[in-house]
Amino acid sequence: MKITIIGTGFVGLTSAVVYASFGHEICGIDIDQRKIDLLNQGVVTFYEPKLTEMVQDELERGKLSFTTDYKEGVSGAKIVMVCVGTPSREDGSVDTAYIEASLREMAKYITDGTIVVIKSTVPPGTLDLADQILKSETKAKYSLASLPEFLKEGTAVDDTLYPDRTVIGADDDETMEVLAELHKPLKAPIVKISPRSAQLAKYAANNYLASRIVFVNEIANVCEKAGANIDEVVEAIGYEKRIGKHYWYPGLGYGGSCFPKDVKGLANIADGLGLEGNLFAKLDELNSERPVQIFERIKKEIEGGWQGKKVAMLGLSFKPGTDDQRVAPALIVAPYLLAEGASIISYDPMVKRIADEKIAESLRYNQVETIEEAVADADVIIALIEWSQIVGFNFKATKVKEKQQVFIDARNQFDKAELTKAGYQYFGIGK
Ligand code: UGA
Repeated sequence: MKITIIGTGFVGLTSAVVYASFGHEICGIDIDQRKIDLLNQGVVTFYEPKLTEMVQDELERGKLSFTTDYKEGVSGAKIVMVCVGTPSREDGSVDTAYIEASLREMAKYITDGTIVVIKSTVPPGTLDLADQILKSETKAKYSLASLPEFLKEGTAVDDTLYPDRTVIGADDDETMEVLAELHKPLKAPIVKISPRSAQLAKYAANNYLASRIVFVNEIANVCEKAGANIDEVVEAIGYEKRIGKHYWYPGLGYGGSCFPKDVKGLANIADGLGLEGNLFAKLDELNSERPVQIFERIKKEIEGGWQGKKVAMLGLSFKPGTDDQRVAPALIVAPYLLAEGASIISYDPMVKRIADEKIAESLRYNQVETIEEAVADADVIIALIEWSQIVGFNFKATKVKEKQQVFIDARNQFDKAELTKAGYQYFGIGK
């Protein structure tokens, strides 16, 4: 079966290679000619484990091709899957402009029986909008479905190959059956529901996970004030089966391309439905304020505050295993520290340049290739991201004896007692 995937980001490209691995003919479309040229040569422009190898394998098998041309890409496809971005607007609402544009572009080339699937995260009701757009451009008898995606960056391929479930939102049985058949090789439960429920399930999953992070971070704040230790509290409550130990790690708050946008998005959707003052708006508020609040709190406890401090900032991506810097803590912490008068030497095992030109060009900002170089003369070390290279580094061995060095363990990955014994002034989260 020919399947066309529109959008070759994390979701689109991972879906493309996985469906290709099932033996389908996959054509990926993107508006970025440079990206398409590189993909046709087997080059993926972002880092995602296993993805490049799979793209190269499927290109070689002739199961995968890429184009910028909608006519070539969509003609003859049984399924056209939209995987383009749905960024947040200034007011937090979901911008579906890329979805709308791709629907207008594909409309001329779909035929009777084509299934148009929206895989991007979209507000409930978006299929009605899709229907209006397609109807205004074509007389073909297509059908529509919603197929939310639950993969995580850094483990995108495995999450797609071994999902916890596949959620299909469709109103007609035939469409539901074609899509259920497509996902059978994954051997995961298939949840067949209405398109609106499927769309909301995606927001609900991301908002629930985000709420766990906000919750554990709020408890960490209380721990700090009350003289308790968040790691011990998590251990103690995690044995409770209804709670669990997973997805409970405190830090500077959630980042990345999805949670911030989807929490804002659901807050805005609920607001638009008359549910003002909802939980989701509060989650967004608490999470957004958190990094600067933490650094303000530490400022009061270190001699002389941030002014003139040489800071080693370790980790530029939003989490380990990816070079994605969208809503990465470094992009919040770096401007804050520079404005406070500090200078920064950064390190990241994957990210080559911070995604903020003003910071990158600042005379008080520098990036180096190794952790040794970053920490050599630092007054403050911030372990921002739990990359194994950072967590596994022996900071005791590089402690400068003549200096009172501060160590900020922003992901609670280090032993407080050991680093304190080594001579660091240690700050963790909630302990
Ligand atoms: C997230 C969801 O986990 C996926 O299920 C979803 O499909 C995806 O968004 C999406 O909507 O596309 P992702 O953004 O790749 O995936 O990253 P996560 O690993 O979930 O981490 C998100 C953020 O939460 C990161 O900043 C991470 O550091 C933070 N986090 C995660 C915590 O602070 N504590 C935790 O316990 C877990």
